[in-house]
Amino acid sequence: MTNIAILGFGTVGGGVYEAISHCNKKPLCDVNIKYILDLRTFPDHPLGDRVTTDFDKILNDESVSIVVETMGGDGVAYKFSLAALKAGKNVVTSNKAVVDKFGAELERVAEENGVVYLYEASVGGGIPIIAPLNSCFMADDIIRVAGILNGTTNYILTHMQSEGKSLEEGIKSAQELGYAEADPHADIAGLDSARKIAILAGIAFDKYISYESIPYIEGIENVTSEDIALAEQLGCVIRLVAVAEKVGDKAKILVAPHLVGNTSLFHAIREAFNAVSVTGSAVGEVVFYGQGAGSLPTAAAVCGDIERAISGKAKTVARKDCEDGFILDINSDTSKMITLPNGKKYRYFE
Ligand code: HSE
Repeated sequence: MTNIAILGFGTVGGGVYEAISHCNKKPLCDVNIKYILDLRTFPDHPLGDRVTTDFDKILNDESVSIVVETMGGDGVAYKFSLAALKAGKNVVTSNKAVVDKFGAELERVAEENGVVYLYEASVGGGIPIIAPLNSCFMADDIIRVAGILNGTTNYILTHMQSEGKSLEEGIKSAQELGYAEADPHADIAGLDSARKIAILAGIAFDKYISYESIPYIEGIENVTSEDIALAEQLGCVIRLVAVAEKVGDKAKILVAPHLVGNTSLFHAIREAFNAVSVTGSAVGEVVFYGQGAGSLPTAAAVCGDIERAISGKAKTVARKDCEDGFILDINSDTSKMITLPNGKKYRYFE
């Protein structure tokens, strides 16, 4: 039996409960959710009596070996994660804001304390991408990681194309479906994708990269239905693509709406689905595809990390800091540009 605590019982935390309670695979079926930390009460929930507002109770309970942080935000969530790691507890999170801002420190503390800080669910929802990046490309120098990493914008772009929805209508339905961030600006302006590509690029290039160091982040605010229709005439769709690519011993990293031609697998990525393409020097291109947001898919990724923490399959090893000049200035970007008949220019993804 492994005792865990879930911090934050919202969309993802609730999904983790659902996934664990329906799981019949070891070691997950032997996990006991001993505490749920939330400011709300859940009197009708089967685990309603395990809900607490007192984090110290969790911290001081030596029988709790894994803390699942699904709170969101980068304040209390960071403080609790740090305290848990220092207390010798493994931490599993879906919180990309904390991973982006404090990942370097939290991984160092995890390593010092012989525990793990795992964040598979912070990128790509249910798609296993961080564990494969960490362990399956041993023969490869990773040349490029690129992704459709934001379900909300992909959903909106899909529905602008198929139903002529406006941006606002798309945001509203993405919110209703639970895909969008609390503040959808982070989705629409490309910041959510930027955090995710920074995390992936950091693992691929073995450095800590914050999204704040990405020199070019453009969201979908200026993409119009006319652009989408004109792209279609060229056999393309418009997708918000995040790219991190090795250029010599440096990296090009950017987020922008791209024209995606029908020879790319990304052309077929619709609705709130995500895809990540990894190009290695030995393996060539590998594409991961799946649900990039939502309660159960994200919880499935959290559960994978819980399993890795229990089985000892994962190890947290602190990476190097990113040296100045490693990320190329946007002026060095040589992406192929395509001009639509209305004069608007888009990068081309292939
Ligand atoms: N708002 C995010 C998205 C949620 O739409 O992809 C998952 O990170």
